[in-house]
Amino acid sequence: MSKQHINYIFDQIGVLNPIHFKKLVKNRVFSDNAYYEVAEKFFDNYERYLLTEHQTLEYAIDCYLRMIADMYIETIEFHRTGKYTSQTFDEVNKRVYAKPETMEYYMHGLLMSQFLWRHHYQMLEYFLKSLNIYVDRVTSYLEIGAGHGLYISKATEILKTSTRFEVVDISETSINFGKRFISNKDVVFNQKNIFEYDSDIRFDFIIMGEVLEHVEDPFRLLKKVKDILNDDGTLFITTPTNAPAIDHIYLFKNEEEIRHLILSCGFEIISEKSFSSEDVSQEKIEKHKVSILYGAFIRVRK
Ligand SMILES: C[S@@+](CC[C@H](N)C(=O)[O-])C[C@H]1O[C@@H](n2cnc3c(N)ncnc32)[C@H](O)[C@@H]1O
Repeated sequence: MSKQHINYIFDQIGVLNPIHFKKLVKNRVFSDNAYYEVAEKFFDNYERYLLTEHQTLEYAIDCYLRMIADMYIETIEFHRTGKYTSQTFDEVNKRVYAKPETMEYYMHGLLMSQFLWRHHYQMLEYFLKSLNIYVDRVTSYLEIGAGHGLYISKATEILKTSTRFEVVDISETSINFGKRFISNKDVVFNQKNIFEYDSDIRFDFIIMGEVLEHVEDPFRLLKKVKDILNDDGTLFITTPTNAPAIDHIYLFKNEEEIRHLILSCGFEIISEKSFSSEDVSQEKIEKHKVSILYGAFIRVRK
């Protein structure tokens, strides 16, 4: 079983950021062959993709560590003030989405994290396994805030080729990243704020990964998504609790708040999972505000 890329990346992080390396290793549960097979395949393809961009894996590691450095600063502020540093969409738009250089390293960093962070990997696994159930039901698929595009890229491999695939993302950098990264060239990209997006159809399946915490009013966002979801359609959402980042606005303090939001918008939960960002007890999660990534398949309550 090859561990070539993973070992190399961990070794590099160990040299460049020993403190983060310790945390990464502590929370690493990837000992099974299945993980290494999937992750090595991803990094093989990703390295090839980077080459087409005249970049290397070292560049991607640097992007990842820049994202981590931002997160450390945000975390210090969060524990000092109990708030995220940005409170409005305008602030985040100026600070992040409209800044190509920041968005570029951020999206590479996030993409790397899907295979380096246990809870990100577990969420991706949960989504991909569950998506198989929808193959015969889904003729249209929308991703809101696709960022790097990994999720929709995987979905195009699982769902039927006749499926209509669309992306909406506010950031030009994310849209361009997705256009280059996703090999399926039939995906339609819309660079738009989701609140300004309109569609001629209602989608059978919508995915919105880690976007709810990026808006001032997640209730308004879920209602908007409900309007473009087929009455019998499925929405997959993920959002973290207590996760300071340069572009996070809305603070969910616990999973119960997320569930409450879902139900109050007229949805019901089909299935849900939560993954902790750190391998610690529930008591420590609550005491130290350890971030939990919550994900759920939901549908409109009849
Ligand atoms: C944290 S990334 C999530 C990437 C990917 N979905 C994931 O789960 O890793 C958030 C993405 O949502 C986009 N985004 C944030 N607010 C948005 C809005 N109001 N409308 C459309 N896209 C938005 C950002 O540009 C970014 O690409």
